[in-house]
Amino acid sequence: MSEEIVALRKRVVSCTKCILHKSRKNAVPGYGNIGSEIIFIGEAPGRNEDLQGEPFVGMAGQILSEALAYSGLKRNDVYITNVVKCRPPNNRQPLREEREACREHLLRELEIIRPKIICVLGNTAFDSLLGGNLITKNRGKVFKRDGQFYFVTVHPAAVIYNPDLRQVLKDDLKFLGQTLDKIKKGLQIEFSE
Ligand code: URA
Ligand code: SF4
Repeated sequence: MSEEIVALRKRVVSCTKCILHKSRKNAVPGYGNIGSEIIFIGEAPGRNEDLQGEPFVGMAGQILSEALAYSGLKRNDVYITNVVKCRPPNNRQPLREEREACREHLLRELEIIRPKIICVLGNTAFDSLLGGNLITKNRGKVFKRDGQFYFVTVHPAAVIYNPDLRQVLKDDLKFLGQTLDKIKKGLQIEFSE
């Protein structure tokens, strides 16, 4: 691990910038390969993540792993994080002020890793990163903002409530892998702004 990411992890685990620090068991910094060309960004840690201090290790994490395996992207090769690093009580959505407070940690992760493409998982991340909504309408799309590529897909937890989305997520991540290959080869890709 680079010194920069170690320093960031230390700041996150001792962070008290928003109210979520009071109820957490563990803060959950991002995890994975800091040389990754893709960062996956979810919403917030859930119960298992709070207990283990690692992102996407519960049910949603299993679904994400399965979709990654299908897509040809390797979980160990990528970096995975969340918009907020501490679990909101009862898994409620993180409030705007909590997301704002935690933004510096996310921006620092992006600065250290400098991904070629950011995979936005679900509505909270879509709103926080791109000011977007209506994930079902916008999923599967590539966006480009300030020179940075983003890819938007459904949140893995949504699959738990809507099994039809399991294949949607898998196919989206496969497309994401193909898109990354094109970006790396300098080929043209279609995107929205
Ligand atoms: N859901 C998220 O958004 N992030 C996690 O880390 C786990 C579940
Ligand atoms: Fe700090 Fe983010 Fe945790 Fe709030 S959610 S206490 S800003 S690390």
